[in-house]
Amino acid sequence: MPHKAVKTAVFPVAGRGTRFLTITKASPKEMLPIVDKPLIQYAVDEALSAGAVTLVFITGSSKRAIEDHFDSNPELEAVLQAQGKQELLDTLRGILPSWASCVYIRQPAPLGLGHAVLCARPVVGEAPFMVHLADDLIDAEVPCLKQMVEVFATHGHSVLGVQNVPQQDTDKYGIVTLERKIAARLGKMSHIVEKPKPEKAASTLAVVGRYLLTAAVFDDLAKIGKGAGGEIQLTDGIAQLMKREPVYAFEFEGKRYDCGSKLGYLQATVEYALKHPSLGGDFAKYLREFVPKLT
Ligand code: G1P
Repeated sequence: MPHKAVKTAVFPVAGRGTRFLTITKASPKEMLPIVDKPLIQYAVDEALSAGAVTLVFITGSSKRAIEDHFDSNPELEAVLQAQGKQELLDTLRGILPSWASCVYIRQPAPLGLGHAVLCARPVVGEAPFMVHLADDLIDAEVPCLKQMVEVFATHGHSVLGVQNVPQQDTDKYGIVTLERKIAARLGKMSHIVEKPKPEKAASTLAVVGRYLLTAAVFDDLAKIGKGAGGEIQLTDGIAQLMKREPVYAFEFEGKRYDCGSKLGYLQATVEYALKHPSLGGDFAKYLREFVPKLT
């Protein structure tokens, strides 16, 4: 029997982004640009390429700019039209394809990632769905969520995107342990723990902001209480789900940038600028001249 199609993507965007203050005082961190596109646009593009048609944003205060970004802007379009700026007009109109729709759900209080995902339940219903954390930018030939949808199409179980991180960083991630390997990059999970201290971590395989989950996880998220950091953790919901059905960890192909940290954000900016079709050449020239001057 073919597995259910994955048509909905959930973007938890209610976080305050305090690490980036003051820029995040009045602007969402998800609107931080990587060259000329906000992080949330990269997130949406990845989900659309993986087959999502319904985009569910779990928002909080100071997040209006995200709604404006994906909304049409007739006044701006009219100005660009009058100025004959067709290319920019096409770019603007291409932000969201006509077949995709956005749903905004307000998370009533910052109760954690698990709670944010649970807020999407009325829209997601019984179908499997993707969760994308925009902080984790992944540059890949085949978009990460698309790789994961392919895994789901074959196996029909929940899949988490994972990669190995340095031992000293385990307390920044959900850390998974495998029961057994299914394929070179795929394993069945036996445990998942939210942010274990390096000396307690059973592995260095970390969840990096990509989840493809069956709707069964909602029952678990509704039942679990507060976990690490006093928040309702998605990791804890998944740990419960694993008692009832298999959950797989998938080492995706691609390079991940931690855009929730200033260093990771700058690394992404430099590397995406170097790959940018109209900017890359000039930026590379600038860097070649600038870098040797560093002491
Ligand atoms: C969240 C999750 C964590 C995951 C991480 C990936 O943590 O709770 O399990 O590994 O995202 O970036 P956060 O970064 O929101 O603290």
